[in-house]
Amino acid sequence: MKKRRKSLYSCQSCGYQTPKWMGRCPECGGWDTLVEEVVTEGDRFQAAPSATRVAAPEPESILAIETLEEPRMPSGIPEFDRVLGGGIVAGSLVLIGGDPGIGKSTLMLQALDGLAQNGRRVLYVSGEESKGQIHLRSQRLGVSSGSLLVVTEIHVDAILSLLETQKPAAVVIDSVQTMYNAELASAPGSVGQVRETTMKLMVAAKKSGIPIFLVGHVTKDGAIAGPRVMEHMVDTVLYFEGDTNHIFRVLRAVKNRFGSTNEIGVFEMRGGGLAQVPNPSALFLAERPESAPGSVVTASMEGTRPILVEIQGLVSRSGLGTPRRTVLGLDSNRVALLVAVMEKKIGMNLAGLDIFMNVAGGVRITEPAVDLAILAAAASSFLDRPLPEGAVVLGEVGLTGEVRGISQLEGRAAEIRKMGFTHFIVPESGAKRLKKIDGLKVSGVRHVAQAMEILF
Ligand code: TYD
Ligand code: MG
Repeated sequence: MKKRRKSLYSCQSCGYQTPKWMGRCPECGGWDTLVEEVVTEGDRFQAAPSATRVAAPEPESILAIETLEEPRMPSGIPEFDRVLGGGIVAGSLVLIGGDPGIGKSTLMLQALDGLAQNGRRVLYVSGEESKGQIHLRSQRLGVSSGSLLVVTEIHVDAILSLLETQKPAAVVIDSVQTMYNAELASAPGSVGQVRETTMKLMVAAKKSGIPIFLVGHVTKDGAIAGPRVMEHMVDTVLYFEGDTNHIFRVLRAVKNRFGSTNEIGVFEMRGGGLAQVPNPSALFLAERPESAPGSVVTASMEGTRPILVEIQGLVSRSGLGTPRRTVLGLDSNRVALLVAVMEKKIGMNLAGLDIFMNVAGGVRITEPAVDLAILAAAASSFLDRPLPEGAVVLGEVGLTGEVRGISQLEGRAAEIRKMGFTHFIVPESGAKRLKKIDGLKVSGVRHVAQAMEILF
């Protein structure tokens, strides 16, 4: 049968197919669910021959399976390698998401340069910038290895042939939103194109064993532009984040088939590219105001690493009918809950007051272990009284105002001591278990009211 059409629009929720795009699926009524997909010849018209039998695979006992140590390639940037789980895994497909201008291209070029300097031939595919622009950037970064190859290309099939002929040790595709598959009529960056590109590259990575890094832009609401399935298809999803107005950049693993998630790498954007920050605590606390009301230091676990950060609270009289609750770098629901606990359990009347919360340095913290620190920051600003000298506050807060235990207290305590803090306010359960550290005073608390008494 002659192939007439190469693509079809399929509804992502019910599977309805149509040759033309529609805004609403006539089958299930979903809006904007039709996505263009490639149809291979015969797909539609030929039913699978029912008589063919597929050979049954042989299951194996889980104890008998041989584990192969995945060979990992160090990129020469330890912060980057750690987030990947200890280096680049052969045949892995890694998605690097982040806002435009955050430094994804810079990071990838530097990582490739690191590989190239170890004598590996690596390939940088750009669909966004001209070779001239890339050369200019590479000069700023001090790229010095001749085995870093550059090509500007947007046709995925051309890139696939390039992989076969060049056999590079690693590839970066910058970015997935610019890639184009000729089978699909839709424009680069559309859901269908992005998905098809990811699928083809996934197959290529697995078949060739070449690790492929896909750069992807993130939409305003934080999702990587393109279908969510893209995140399911790839092995690893890294987010490169940070405020473009700040110099700090945090590389975070949100999915990793070859290592732990939650691992972060901290970088600083300099004139000559990204520099690693081996001691983030010092960086995040560098500009902390001494003994200012509303400033609280706490220790947050980022993967296996404790990092000290400053939480700031500002409580002030509101000029508006509905007071403002502005939260940056923290979960705003969590803050609302803690404010309610403050009102009900320690009698601080915050109704009618504006509350602003911020994590200094543009960091984002989701851990409940910083609850007590958030509460202390708001209380400190409310009372206009600073925390005692050298205090660090930790603990999860429950709805009845109880302070609950947190994980990895030992590691956090060590970091706190290292940074020169002397007074540690923690949940009582943890305080009992904590080994004595010279020069560190530990106060265990059970209830937020108890913590307030010690602090103010
Ligand atoms: P870029 O890697 O192009 O971001 P992305 O690929 O995520 O869109 O980096 C963009 C910003 O980084 C740009 O605004 C300038 C800044 N930058 C530096 O400050 N120093 C440097 O050495 C380089 C290369 C970029
Ligand atoms: Mg870029």
